[in-house]
Order: sequence, then structure tokens, then C-alpha cells
Amino acid sequence: MSLGKIIDKANNDLFKRIDKQKVPEHVAIIMDGNGRWATKKGLPRSFGHNKGVSVLKEIIRASNKLGCKILTVYAFSTENWTRPTKEVDFLINLFTEVLKNEIKEIHQESIKIKFIGDLTPLPETLKKTIYSSESLTKNNNAFLLNVCVNYGGRQEIVKVAKELALKSSSGEINPSEVNEELFNSTLLTQGINDPELLIRTSGEKRISNFLLWQLAYSEIYISDVLWPDFNELEFLKAIIDYQSRNRRFGGIESLPNGSYEDSQCTS
Ligand code: IPE
Ligand code: IPE
Ligand code: MG
Repeated sequence: MSLGKIIDKANNDLFKRIDKQKVPEHVAIIMDGNGRWATKKGLPRSFGHNKGVSVLKEIIRASNKLGCKILTVYAFSTENWTRPTKEVDFLINLFTEVLKNEIKEIHQESIKIKFIGDLTPLPETLKKTIYSSESLTKNNNAFLLNVCVNYGGRQEIVKVAKELALKSSSGEINPSEVNEELFNSTLLTQGINDPELLIRTSGEKRISNFLLWQLAYSEIYISDVLWPDFNELEFLKAIIDYQSRNRRFGGIESLPNGSYEDSQCTS
């Protein structure tokens, strides 16, 4: 059997194990490990970023095929500006080129693409490409791809706080109206449900300022695989692991019929 066939079979076997009724609607991914992947191979870090793009394409396809509806990926954080200028420039250029090259196919697949983050400091060419891509795909409804660029969770929360403070001081809202619902609907992710699952690759066990509000009750899956080596098989493993979790949201374990066992609590 060829290597391709073995991989296809492994993917199919895992695919069959997935409960299609319990596929997460929204998956968030911290795509980490590009630099280490390249360094390990004695290559410049940029090779890792290039390879990372093809992995992202594979994961978009895999999640769409599985029935997920939303994928939110961390492409560039507010802290990533602290990297050497050469790497930052490479990444910005890569985003522009990839978006220009892929937007036609994204649109054909009926994927809606949205960019999340403060786009203000990005170069004009990238901004133009982003706006035209968002506009072209705005009515697509098969799948939503959120790309977080110059995104920081704390900055997002401060932005919401500022907006609501301004609305309060101008009398547009009453301070007493500020609640979770209003806060949520002012976030950059307004209108979409929180991710049920967060995947981080490369073994790092931290959130790195990603979706601080939205991840409040997400299940976290850490993969030791570096992002450029991540693939459909690893993604399916994450979904299977997610499906084995008992999500309690602060409550107690539910029985298979959805009711609760309170015998443990008798006085
Ligand atoms: C993730 O890979 C991509 C970005 C942050 C843009 P890294 O570039 O962080 O790779 P490592 O973590 O240094 O290996
Ligand atoms: C998080 O990865 C940001 C992205 C994947 C875009 P980092 O590599 O920047 O995070 P740290 O520095 O390891 O926390
Ligand atoms: Mg990293």
C-alpha cells in the first residue's frame, strides 16, 4: 500500500470514530511551532511559516468536511510585533500573497472570511486585500473562517470597555445596562458562539492572549505536533479527544439521559 493510501485509511478510520452529532460548531486554533519546525531542519524560520499555510488549508478542508461551521485561527498576535523586523515583514507579505492567491478558491467553496484584530497598523496593500476578501465573501454561508491578525484578547476587552464607557457617557446606554450579553455583542467576535474547542500545537500550555473572553469554557487540547507537521489526522484526534470530555460548565456530571445524580449529596 502506498504511503498516501495508508494515510487516507488512517484518516478514514478516525473519521468513522467521530460522533457526527457531537462535532464542535466552532474550533479555535493557536497555530504554533513554525519557527522551531524550520530550525530543527536547519532552515530559516520563514520556511516554517510557508509550510504552515498549506497545513491551514488542509485543516480548513478537514473541519468543513467534518461539519464544523467556524474556524478561528491565530495568525499574528499584538505581541508578535516584537519579533525581528525581517520576520514581521515576511509574515505580513505572506498574509498578503496567500490571501491574493487563495481568495478565489475560498469564495468558490462558499467560505466567508473575516479578519479579527486591530487592522489599523497593517500596510495599505494588506488592508486593501483584507477588505476586498471580506467584501467578496460576505454572503457566503457554508463556513466561517476568522483569521486573527494583530489580535490580542486583552486589547479586545479594553476596546469593548472603552466603547461601552463612551456610550454610557453620551447617554446612549445606561451604565446599568452593561452586562455579559451587551459586552459579548460588542466584541470583535460578535454574533458567533464561543469556541467549544481550542487546539494549540507545539506543546505549549498557554493561551498567549488569545480570545480571553471567548475561551471561558472551551475545552483545551494541546498537541505536541509542531504546526507545520499538523494534519487532518491530528485534527481528527483532537476532535475525538474533545468528544470524550464531560463538559460541566460549573455544574455536576450529567447522566446519559441528561438528568443529574443527587444521591451523592444526601445529608
Ligand atoms: C507560530 O509559529 C506562527 C506565528 C506566531 C506567526 P512561531 O513563529 O511562533 O514558531 P515557534 O513557536 O517560534 O516555533
Ligand atoms: C501565539 O504564538 C501567537 C500565534 C500563534 C499567532 P506565540 O509563539 O507568539 O506565543 P508565545 O510567545 O509562545 O506565547
Ligand atoms: Mg510560537
